[in-house]
Amino acid sequence: MPAITYIHPNGRSDRVETSDGESAMQAATRHGVDGILAECGGNAMCATCHVYVDESWLARLPAMADEEDALLEGTASERLPNSRLSCQIHITPALDGLIVRLPERQV
Ligand code: FES
Repeated sequence: MPAITYIHPNGRSDRVETSDGESAMQAATRHGVDGILAECGGNAMCATCHVYVDESWLARLPAMADEEDALLEGTASERLPNSRLSCQIHITPALDGLIVRLPERQV
């Protein structure tokens, strides 16, 4: 199963195994990774699943939809060029080893 590493603002990291069809948000919440609230449950309505994708992985992610782009304008922590909504990152075998950083806050 593809694995994702979540790096917290204090440098601590959590590496979790994902399941088929899961999003990076679902993998985090299923494993109790704190720092991702996902208040809307993955429906692209809340932006509380904001993550910063490691630069080395950015080009390997699918382009974001307009809906995600608009929501990222309302994140609690600063939007950066590598900002994404983790509920919109659907894990595939090609993303095995993905690294994302968690923002200071989600609300
Ligand atoms: Fe709400 Fe991702 S969980 S936008």
